[in-house]
Amino acid sequence: MFGRLNHVGVATPSIAKAREHYAGLFGDGAVSEAFDLPEQGVRVCFVEAGNTQIELIEPLSDASPIAGFLARNPAGGQHHLCFEVADLDIAINDARAHGARVLGTPRLGAHGTRIVFLHPKDMGGVLVELMEAPDGGH
Ligand code: CO
Repeated sequence: MFGRLNHVGVATPSIAKAREHYAGLFGDGAVSEAFDLPEQGVRVCFVEAGNTQIELIEPLSDASPIAGFLARNPAGGQHHLCFEVADLDIAINDARAHGARVLGTPRLGAHGTRIVFLHPKDMGGVLVELMEAPDGGH
């Protein structure tokens, strides 16, 4: 079973500008420092938004999948939803049993736990990230 909405991913051409914008709206204390995730080819920053977070994402290079998204959406935009799951392997089996293709293999995400993405065409047009969280999804 899928659990809580952990974050909404938002792609941006400039994480510095987006970070400043969100800091103005949510307060400086709500916005983390930006950091690189070389394995995923992105630089990210998290905004605390009450019961969830916003993940701001900027591509590190043209090879990043985010670069392709920004080519289609130059101003940036909503990129994915991330749901917590208690056990990623069980959740992957559940997703497949419900007809969702899994993109690639599990890897370490921005929170240091395993993640995987589900194909948007199998999820009503929404790219979905599953994130293993010890107390997530029941
Ligand atoms: Co994410």
